Order: sequence, then structure tokens, then C-alpha cells
Amino acid sequence: MFKVLILAGGIGKRMKSKIPKIFHNIIDKPMIEYVVKLAFGLNPDEVAIVLGKWYDEKRYGEYFKSKNMSIFMQSEPLGTGHAISCAMDFLEGEGDILILYGDVPLLRFDTIERMRRAHLEEKNDMTILTAIVEDPAGYGRVVRRDGRVRMIVEDADANEEQKSIREINSGIYMFKIPVLRKNLKYLRNENKQGEYYLTDLVEILDERKYKIGTVMVEDPDEITGVNTRKQLVDVERKMRYRIMDELMENGVTIEDPDTTFIGSEVKIGMDTIVKPMTFIFGDTEIGEDCVIGPNVFLEDSKLGKGVRMSFSHCQCVTIEDEVTIGPFSRLRPGTHIKKNVKIGNFVEVKNSIISENSRASHLSYIGDAFVGKNVNIGAGTITCNYDGFKKNRTEIEDGAFIGSNSSLVAPVKIGKDSIIGAGSVITEDVPPDSLGIGRGRQVNKIGWAKSWREKKRAERSVEGE
Ligand code: UD1
Ligand code: CA
Repeated sequence: MFKVLILAGGIGKRMKSKIPKIFHNIIDKPMIEYVVKLAFGLNPDEVAIVLGKWYDEKRYGEYFKSKNMSIFMQSEPLGTGHAISCAMDFLEGEGDILILYGDVPLLRFDTIERMRRAHLEEKNDMTILTAIVEDPAGYGRVVRRDGRVRMIVEDADANEEQKSIREINSGIYMFKIPVLRKNLKYLRNENKQGEYYLTDLVEILDERKYKIGTVMVEDPDEITGVNTRKQLVDVERKMRYRIMDELMENGVTIEDPDTTFIGSEVKIGMDTIVKPMTFIFGDTEIGEDCVIGPNVFLEDSKLGKGVRMSFSHCQCVTIEDEVTIGPFSRLRPGTHIKKNVKIGNFVEVKNSIISENSRASHLSYIGDAFVGKNVNIGAGTITCNYDGFKKNRTEIEDGAFIGSNSSLVAPVKIGKDSIIGAGSVITEDVPPDSLGIGRGRQVNKIGWAKSWREKKRAERSVEGE
């Protein structure tokens, strides 16, 4: 049996926030999501989380239900040891348990796997993940005697000599489940903070002749906890660089990592170039040989190969190979842009399919539409999809040419290879191969302008006298 227990009982006072600490975002998702993903990635039999009095089921219940983990409540934050004792029912049976913190999102899968292997191979009762850091202030110190761990002393309780120890407790441990279950009752809260410290178990277990091992993290950044807004930003920056370093290792050029934000789930193909000021979030996939940016926002979207996109905003869209988007395009949910299409400046597309080789190069709104192949949508074309009550569909068949500044009042269908005269308001279907034109007929009055001017001049000279 292998279980994971995540501690998140504290609200995070030092964040000075109405939002619980673990729901603050790092790049594109809440901090807790990184920890939960790590936990499930380890393939455990069961996962549970300890939540505190900040927990509002109405707001956050859905999130935890969707994760298939048990919730235990700690009504008062009386310390990490107390938090674990609130999950006593979870500590039944045999096997091993991993303790994670909800506010330590940078921890790597490989580190935990290494710790788990050591824990099992050395047959430890408790294994502590430790780190050597430059500045150990604030952390619990690992006190050793003859190389063996004897206890962990919290910063608040440490004497001068102990404070100079640079090996710190990450707060991440593995236990044999029965050992943890049977020894929690020995914890006392006689310390500076009046808390039940889980860390006191080290001394208790050592005295009772249990076997305690340690594993050291290679990169101490991994165990950085988020307690303040400043740490939140620091951790986010580290996470961003970690994600971008991996993408670069896999053949993606990121021209300016300082101004680029890419989420941890994003996939990008080889030889794609990401230009500065670009944000790529959520479940986004980008093919090979694309140029994305500068100034692009992409979320939950799929892009094929050879897509070029600049100064544009896209959410929940699919874009096929060799498409050009922007500058200044906005593609909204439900949009599917097929191969070789060009969507140009100041074009908004929503819930529409634009088929192969079609173009909307300037200043258009295309909503709830189907656009066939080889269609040209002239500048200023608007699909009038909303009648104040519901959204209606526009259908534009293959090869149609929509003259500039036309309004297509939906529901309406523009037939194959037809032409719409510029400036038309189209309210009826246009049959294939036809011209649809809906505007006032032009009238030229010969000499009218000249005589009008002469009349005006004459009036002025009379007034002037
Ligand atoms: C803890 C460790 C310290 C270690 C540090 C690493 C103890 C006593 N100290 O200190 O040795 O160096 O982590 O970051 O364990 N929590 C609860 N309920 C509580 C208190 C805390 O669920 O009553 C949760 C918090 O939400 C958080 C985690 O436990 O996720 C750590 O709590 P925190 O108060 O931040 O512990 P530290 O003082 O940082
Ligand atoms: Ca902490």
C-alpha cells in the first residue's frame, strides 16, 4: 500500500489575501494543482488532503471532488503533527505514506522517486528529504550526531549553534504507515509556537530505536515553500524557467524567456520559435516550425505545423498547418481554422469553421459561421449573428467572394462561387454562381456640385454686404 497525504491546513496569513494560499496561481493554474499532479503521478493507491477552516465547500468543493481524493478537516491550525492526526482514518493498514505540502509546488517527480527508493531499500521507518541551503533562516534544522539524524529543531526553538546548521528539513517525508499511526500520540506542544510539530517525531522515533534515513535534494529550489506574495512570484519565475529550459532542450527557440510565460502542460514542436511577450497557457499544443509572437496569448488551443501568429489572442481554438494569424486577430472558442487560411488584422472569429485557403484579411467579425474553401471575405464584412434573442448561423459556400463592408444578416446562406457586391446588407440566401447585391443604387447628377457651390457663394456675398 502506498498513500500520499497533502497538508494544506494553514490559510497562509502572510499572503494577506482573501484567497486561500494554495489557490493562488502559478503561471496558469493554482499552486495546489502542481502538488496534486505530482501526487497522482507517483501512482499511489490513495491520496488525501488535510484542509483547514479556510475551506469553503461551495467555492472549492468541486475542485477536490474532481480529483478523487479524500478530504480531512483540521478545524484549528495547531501544527503539522496535529494536521496529520486529523487524518487518522487515512493511516489505517500497512505500507508507506508520503507527506507533501500544498505550498511546495516546485518539488520534482524524480526527487520523490529517489526518496521512495531509498526509503524502501534501506527499510526505513521514516525518511526525511533534506537540503543544504545558503540561508537556512525560517526552516527546521537537521541535527545529527555521528552522522546520524537525532532531531529536527524548528527555527523558533533553535539555539545559536543549531541556527548555524545549514542542512534543513524540507518538510517532505515518508513513513511506514503503522509507525506514524502509533507514534503521533507522543507529540507535545511545549515549544515556542505552542504547536504539535510533526518534526518532533524524529527525536521520538530515534529514542524508540526506529530507523530514520535522509535523502538530500540536489536543487534546494525544489523545496521552496510559498508563504508570501514575493515567494509566490519567485517560485513562479523558477517554474517558468524550468518549463522553458525543457522546451529549449527539446528544440524550441524562446527568444526572450524574461517576458514569456508558458504553462506546464503546453507542448511545442521542434524548430518552433516563440517570440517575446508571449503567453501560452492551459492545454495548448503547437506543432513544428511555427513562429508564435511577439505579443501572443494562446490558451487551450491546438496549432498545426508552420503556423505564423503575431499580436493575437486565441482561446479554445484549432488551427491547422500553414495558417497565418494576425497581427491583431482575436479567435474565440469553437473556432476551427483549416489549412492555409489567412486571418488578418482586426478580424474576430467566434465558433466558426473557416475552410482551406480562405481569407479574411482585414476588419471583420465572423461568428457562428461555416466558411467553405477558397472564400475571400472582404474588409469590413460582418456576420450579423445575433438578433437580440438568439444566435443564428451564416453559411458561405466554397469559392464565394464577399465584397467589402457587407453585412450578412443570419440566418443566411451564400451559395457556391457567388459574389456579394461591396457594401451590401444581405438578408436573403444567395444562390450559387450569382451576384447578391443589397444597397441603394448609385445616382450621378451631372454638374450638381458646381451649381450648388455657386449658389452658396452667391448667398455669402449677399450676407457680406
Ligand atoms: C515546516 C517544518 C520545518 C520545515 C518547513 C519546510 C514543522 C513543525 N516544521 O515549517 O521543519 O523546515 O516546514 O517548509 O513541521 N499545516 C497544516 N496544519 C497546521 C500547520 C501547517 O496543515 O496546523 C500545513 C500548512 O498548510 C503547510 C505545511 O503544513 O502546507 C507546512 O506548514 P508551515 O506552517 O508553513 O510550516 P513551517 O513553519 O514552514
Ligand atoms: Ca511553510
